[in-house]
Amino acid sequence: MLELFYKRRSIRKFTDTPIEAEKLERILQAALLAPSSKSVYPCEFILVDKKEINEKLSTCKPHGASFLRNTAYSIIVAGDTNKSDVWIEDCAIAATFIQLQAEQEGLGTCWIQIRKREYNEEQSATSYIRKILKMPTNLQVLAIIAVGYKDGEKTGRDETHLKKEKIHRNQF
Ligand SMILES: Cc1cc2nc3c(=O)[nH]c(=O)nc-3n(C[C@H](O)[C@H](O)[C@H](O)COP(=O)(O)O)c2cc1C
Repeated sequence: MLELFYKRRSIRKFTDTPIEAEKLERILQAALLAPSSKSVYPCEFILVDKKEINEKLSTCKPHGASFLRNTAYSIIVAGDTNKSDVWIEDCAIAATFIQLQAEQEGLGTCWIQIRKREYNEEQSATSYIRKILKMPTNLQVLAIIAVGYKDGEKTGRDETHLKKEKIHRNQF
């Protein structure tokens, strides 16, 4: 597991190689296996495997999403605000499970932050995405996880990356 954590990097350039259905299936299983406060499971996942839809999603905010234009697969992670007051936490864990299972499958991912991001001065990124994906207003989008075969390898982390001063024992 730790080896996988050292290896994982954010990938924003993908090849055109299609992702095998079994791999996508296992990634989505990982999402559904994430823990959930009070076992409420407020997260909803939308797999987008149409390039033209990802292209539309790529303009959901001014910065940090444009690479979706050239991405074939993404998973929208959204929470039902009527079901849980901690949907953010639940969705963040599920999104992380998606990223880690994808890495395990030999794929790359990148988290695209949506919550608290704006499409423009009048509209949130979430509301822009809701219209494209026909989502009800009780769903808030936490993030889009771009997924695909990596176009080039990024160097994994090593121990020099670890900010060990952030670990405290018994008191801060
Ligand atoms: C909460 C969160 C939001 C992020 N939002 C974006 C984003 O909107 N666009 C993007 O390209 N990367 C985004 N990232 C990826 C970070 O930039 C990346 O994780 C960070 O630079 C560390 O690099 P690494 O993932 O390769 O270790 C986000 C990551 C997290 C955890």
